[in-house]
Amino acid sequence: MAASSECRYKYEECKETVDWLLAHTNIQPKVAIICGSGLGGLSDLLNNRIVFPYMDIPNFPHSTVAGHAGELVFGELNGKQCVCMKGRFHFYEGYDIAMVTFPVRVFFLLGVETLIVTNAAGGLNSNYKVGDIMMIKDHINIPGFAGQNPLCGPNDERFGVRFPCMSDAYDKDLAQLARQTAKDLGFDEFLQQGVYCMLAGPTYETVAECKVLQLLGADAVGMSTVPEVVVARHCGLRVFGLSLITNKVVSDYNSEERANHDEVLTTTNMRTQDIQRLVSHLVKKI
Ligand code: HPA
Repeated sequence: MAASSECRYKYEECKETVDWLLAHTNIQPKVAIICGSGLGGLSDLLNNRIVFPYMDIPNFPHSTVAGHAGELVFGELNGKQCVCMKGRFHFYEGYDIAMVTFPVRVFFLLGVETLIVTNAAGGLNSNYKVGDIMMIKDHINIPGFAGQNPLCGPNDERFGVRFPCMSDAYDKDLAQLARQTAKDLGFDEFLQQGVYCMLAGPTYETVAECKVLQLLGADAVGMSTVPEVVVARHCGLRVFGLSLITNKVVSDYNSEERANHDEVLTTTNMRTQDIQRLVSHLVKKI
């Protein structure tokens, strides 16, 4: 069987989406924010908002998970023009891994330079507590190990090079700025920095899987973010990422704890204001 000569989605499709968006808003964002599960409240902080339900945007995928509203919000956050994804697309919903990242290429063609990603994650590091906020230092792309990398397939050089570097995926200067911002806000005691590992989901991890991930050097585990970051780096965006540790993974056979979505949402509600403050103060300094 011959390899496909077609990109998994075409430059022209992204361009069509961008042209449609530019015809409907005057905002020219330099910063894009992808809000994780239950963290979409950040988009409500934007001033002079223009809201586009995903369903109305040409070529845009639609989100299906409860708690993921599915809107692209343009506006000003702390005086900075931004675009915010309220609700992201997950591989486990059944999207092609490349489709999950379609909005990132739209951001790139819109002129965005910095991508901020947030997510909910399970804590693998035994020093982490529920409610900690982890700045992402690096990631482990487990679906990528299994051939599910959004950049597989023909490469369109208009987006980026065939073999992009990933050893510098998370911008050190932004992380430093965020660390200082968190300090100023008094968030020191629950701020962490570590490695995020993506699994495809939707199942939470077995005990044995958690042990493997810990051995691999992962500090937090989740079901998102990495495809978007890979595609953002491919097209040269600077990336900053935050994981909210919503639960501790179960890595002990005697534990009675069970990972569940309700706990994830409860912790998210507890920390959502802090994440919003951190991101909005950071955006102001970018
Ligand atoms: N595992 C995977 N994804 C998650 C978790 C978890 O424990 N918590 C929130 N997202």
